[in-house]
Amino acid sequence: MYTETVQTVRHWTDRLFSFTATRNPGFRFISGQFTMIGLTVNGKPLLRAYSICSAHHEDHLEFFSIKVPDGPLTSHLQKIQPGDQLIVGAKPTGTLIQQNLKPGKTLYLLSTGTGLAPFVSIVKDPETYELYDHIVLAHGCREIAELGYGEQIVNNLLNDEFFGEIAREKLLYYPTVTREPFRNNGRLTALFEQGKLEADLGLAPLNKETDRVMLCGSPQMLDDLQNLLISRGFTEGSHHTRGEFVIEKAFVEK
Ligand code: A2P
Repeated sequence: MYTETVQTVRHWTDRLFSFTATRNPGFRFISGQFTMIGLTVNGKPLLRAYSICSAHHEDHLEFFSIKVPDGPLTSHLQKIQPGDQLIVGAKPTGTLIQQNLKPGKTLYLLSTGTGLAPFVSIVKDPETYELYDHIVLAHGCREIAELGYGEQIVNNLLNDEFFGEIAREKLLYYPTVTREPFRNNGRLTALFEQGKLEADLGLAPLNKETDRVMLCGSPQMLDDLQNLLISRGFTEGSHHTRGEFVIEKAFVEK
């Protein structure tokens, strides 16, 4: 375990916030992995799995969290301030890593809600852009305000002095909301069933020969999208066998 110091906190909506913390130089991870993080509550460490949003080359840690009013950890975590201590587990792990996927041309990063978190790390990682022609970052939320964190990450990348050029060439951002009018509306499942998401981005319909998919969201979203991929011949990759898609549950506290 490491003890880190919270540096910045930003509240995006009454349900979502992101924060940064110091990073021990000895803490190594692969972009897309998660680790246990938490606080000391009533004298004991209280930890939950959190995907790491920062890329492996960054010198700080970043996380994106839901706020559950009576959630054992998030009811405390949502009150953190710069200078507070954060416990960070020293053993990151997870399936959303390039080693579990066969080589491909387009990488689809499909998330709902806080499932965006591991993909923030992946789109910030220069190696992702060496491996694919296009990286699609699709994020489904109920409301426009919930897209704020993802929008800021993408805007920063597109305008980055060093990274902007390759990001503008390869990164395709597709935010969609389900409960108010927006330029993209509908669940990711429906958008793929209609072939609309690919068409809107000027890409060919989803195809296992060229496309690789990473999924992170609620259990129901994962089930539905996994079934859609399997029906199109995609196979799941793991640490043992590379596949055309990989899955991780977004760690939402019930
Ligand atoms: P909807 O508004 O139609 O429920 P949540 O905040 O509940 O985790 O939802 C985040 C987003 O994921 C919402 O836009 C929600 O749409 C959508 N969603 C919920 N279930 C699924 C599913 N099975 N497949 C795809 N998207 C889903």
